[in-house]
Amino acid sequence: MIDAGALVLGIETSCDETAAAVVAGGADVLSSVVSSQVDLHAAFGGVVPELAGRAHLELLTPVVDEALGRAGLDGGAGLGAVAATVGPGLIGSLLVGVSEAKALALAWGLPFAGVNHLEGHLFAGLLEYPELQWPLAVLLVSGGHTLLVAMDGPGRYRPLGATLDDAAGEAFDKVARFLGLGYPGGPAIEAAAAAGDPAAFAFPRAMLDDGLDLSFSGLKTAVVHAVRRAPDASDEDVAASFQQAVVDVLVTKAVRAAQEAGAAGLCLAGGVAANGALRAAFGAACDELGVPAYLPSRAMCTDNAAMIAAAGWWQLAHVGPTPLDAGADPDLRLPLLA
Ligand code: KG4
Ligand code: ZN
Repeated sequence: MIDAGALVLGIETSCDETAAAVVAGGADVLSSVVSSQVDLHAAFGGVVPELAGRAHLELLTPVVDEALGRAGLDGGAGLGAVAATVGPGLIGSLLVGVSEAKALALAWGLPFAGVNHLEGHLFAGLLEYPELQWPLAVLLVSGGHTLLVAMDGPGRYRPLGATLDDAAGEAFDKVARFLGLGYPGGPAIEAAAAAGDPAAFAFPRAMLDDGLDLSFSGLKTAVVHAVRRAPDASDEDVAASFQQAVVDVLVTKAVRAAQEAGAAGLCLAGGVAANGALRAAFGAACDELGVPAYLPSRAMCTDNAAMIAAAGWWQLAHVGPTPLDAGADPDLRLPLLA
């Protein structure tokens, strides 16, 4: 078992951010370094897995050194454990972080924690709002996942709803690519939308009145058809109308999830939760519902290693270390209660 205040080095390399952080007692972020590979992949319009893996190899050691240095540590002295994302994600990228974390744990004689990336995102809210109450409804919206879960506490997740097709972030990325706005799509759409009319196009809000599952592939297709029908339409108007449709669906479903789960609060997590329009609408909806809105800072919503270190500390304190012969799993799922 790990000390209550132990310092955990977290490592995150599941996709296109190379990140390392040191977190004390699963709660205090002493350092958090994120090196984005955006420039490397931008020319290709999306993440190129082979390039991502190679870039992680080059970047990870300096990023770890910087995280240790900023936390005032010299090498492994003073650390209590090493945690790394073991999945889901790109296998070639995951393996870089997992191998480095295991090697460091072995060399420094420390326990290793293999962390689920999705669970890491759920810890972002806990890191920034230690006072939050259970049960919590969480809307996790990232590039590959869109999930609604009820959280009864760390490690105790009940499924409420999920996308039946594209993830919300995937829809942002695909629409941005179609409009030629570049990669990564979410920030590009958000920037274009700021100068557009969200009511210019009446895009569909799939399954709005229907349960807690979601669907975004029809919306993406509707955008393509609308632009082909109106080739002179401004990208700003299309982006703003698309973003509004996504936000309307996400907020409606999140509020319904909070009501069904009898949640004491609603939390946002994942890269799409950095979106300003979503954050504003989510906050307003929570005010109306009379429950606190937990909005982790933008840097904590997108991929980072502080959330991985926090989840790793909790895992070591309550479950135990991960054996060093455990591998990475690109298709790992969030462990859910029945
Ligand atoms: O959580 P994350 O950083 O990585 C994954 O685990 O996937 O999420 C990345 C996703 C991408 O689809 C990206 O376009 C989206 O989050 N995203 C945004 C914004 N910033 C990042 N989507 C909408 N608005 C943003 N400002
Ligand atoms: Zn992520």
